Amino acid sequence: MIIYYTRTQKSKIAAEALHDITGLPLYALDSDIHEVKGIRFAWRAVRSIIGSKGYPVKNMPKAIPSEVYLCGPIWVGEIAGPLKYFINQADLSGKKVHMLLTGIQPTEQNRESARKCLGKSGCQIGEIYLIATQKELPEKEVITEHLREMMEEANA
Ligand SMILES: Cc1cc2nc3c(=O)[nH]c(=O)nc-3n(C[C@H](O)[C@H](O)[C@H](O)COP(=O)(O)O)c2cc1C
Repeated sequence: MIIYYTRTQKSKIAAEALHDITGLPLYALDSDIHEVKGIRFAWRAVRSIIGSKGYPVKNMPKAIPSEVYLCGPIWVGEIAGPLKYFINQADLSGKKVHMLLTGIQPTEQNRESARKCLGKSGCQIGEIYLIATQKELPEKEVITEHLREMMEEANA
């Protein structure tokens, strides 16, 4: 299963690219953090990444398979609040969890903080892929190609 959170659709496109490669079903997490804009959103976003609670998700999945991909944006160097909330609330112990993070300038430090966040959940940490995005929506085919290469490298 590919569980994703997106605010401006970029992680959705990345999750769809991953779906095209793996054939795994997609599950979109919804959060009312979308409902505020501008500076109010910025405050909430920052609050949501401080500490480990995250920002509430409205539709937690009922069952989580033994291997899962989590996909979503990086906010202020951390996993976005709703995805952080999911990691803290879902029972991921013993499950294999991979991540696909999008950001305008993803760094190795972002990968490390994602690893730390996953580490607390008792899951088995899989691959953490980073996808660079720009202001415009990315083309799914371009992400698919890039992701395929990264996955081949990881499995080599
Ligand atoms: C509040 C906020 C903070 C962000 N911080 C970062 C960051 O630290 N590093 C980064 O690479 N991108 C950062 N971004 C950019 C997003 O991660 C990027 O645009 C992402 O692809 C958006 O995904 P989405 O369209 O699925 O919401 C930030 C965006 C927002 C809204």
